[in-house]
Amino acid sequence: MDQSNFWRVIHLDEQNAVNEQVNEQHSAKLICTANHGFAPYAQEELRRLFGSLKSTMLIPGEVFIVTLATTLQEATERILEKAPIFLRHIFPVVMEIPGADKDQAFEQAVSYLLKREYLEGSRVSVQVRKAEGSSWTENPGALRDQLQERLAPLEMEFTVQDPEWVISLFAAKDTWYLGVSQPDRNLSDWNGGAIRFQREEGQISRAKFKLLEAEKQFGIPFDSFRNALDIGAAPGGWSSFLLERGLQVTAVDPAKMHESLIHHPNLRIVNKNASEVKFKESQFDLLVCDMSWSPKQMARLVTDLLYSLAPGGTAVVTVKLLTKKPMALVHDIIDIFEQSRMQIQGAKQLFHNRDEITLYMIKY
Ligand SMILES: C[S@@+](CC[C@H](N)C(=O)[O-])C[C@H]1O[C@@H](n2cnc3c(N)ncnc32)[C@H](O)[C@@H]1O
Repeated sequence: MDQSNFWRVIHLDEQNAVNEQVNEQHSAKLICTANHGFAPYAQEELRRLFGSLKSTMLIPGEVFIVTLATTLQEATERILEKAPIFLRHIFPVVMEIPGADKDQAFEQAVSYLLKREYLEGSRVSVQVRKAEGSSWTENPGALRDQLQERLAPLEMEFTVQDPEWVISLFAAKDTWYLGVSQPDRNLSDWNGGAIRFQREEGQISRAKFKLLEAEKQFGIPFDSFRNALDIGAAPGGWSSFLLERGLQVTAVDPAKMHESLIHHPNLRIVNKNASEVKFKESQFDLLVCDMSWSPKQMARLVTDLLYSLAPGGTAVVTVKLLTKKPMALVHDIIDIFEQSRMQIQGAKQLFHNRDEITLYMIKY
């Protein structure tokens, strides 16, 4: 179904509904998720986009509901266009259900969903979360399973990967929030934006997940590069990822690389501080840096080495948010890179980033 039809469907549904959110009243409700502790910055991003907004925390520091003085379609489009840094996931609330009685709430959700004919026969991801104090006392997975069972008449194919539609249910303390959306409207097609990767046997560090997530989030074609510089490489999670993608890797770190990598034929290890190394001009077409260090010093170190990145080359760096003003810090760091011929392609706090964000840049 194309986008305009989708919004028309939602619009018609809502005209018939009693408890549903009514879009044409220029009020949109979204359930919003950020990394733990970063919800205030996601709220600030929305405030900058929409001016004033009404917002209530549902999981402290992490999940909140906003009411925006605009339609759902407009709100979503403005957020998608802005590509926020801290706001990780959204879903549009199409129905609010009183949540005190879990059985009644469940039945209302089922009866709403069974009437959505456009879901019939499609690939659907059912994403359920709950907050503390919810009347749903079992785990959210059990609620998802029961919901899927009851939705059998719609003959949907339930899937986690590449769904056509996402049914979202957030069972908060007093209210259950229900959403139906196309996955590209949610900023991420994972439940709450929490993208999971399987830990592999012999995996060197969890840091590898950050690069895997950056690959998905920004669509970075890692296997199209040939020669990478990895700054702050030890113990080697990122280097091993790049080696798996077939790249030649130069790893710079005074600390030790994992022993499984030491004799890799495509890896050159430079056991030095990044401020002490010298390379040829335009030697690399990819530069990555995950130094968990003072961000301004990291930016200086990396910009000093940018001569070794060929024009058109890509850089992926993590920026530690060691400050109470992360938004200002991120903008300062972006400024430093922009003044060094780097064009920002993406800036995002990924699910696998802790107190940091990831920058994706291309040198011009
Ligand atoms: C978070 S770890 C990197 C993890 C790595 N990306 C992985 O996937 O395994 C940060 C590394 O940065 C290195 N580091 C810190 N300052 C550095 C500097 N000035 N030059 C080179 N490496 C540095 C540390 O020694 C540490 O090994």
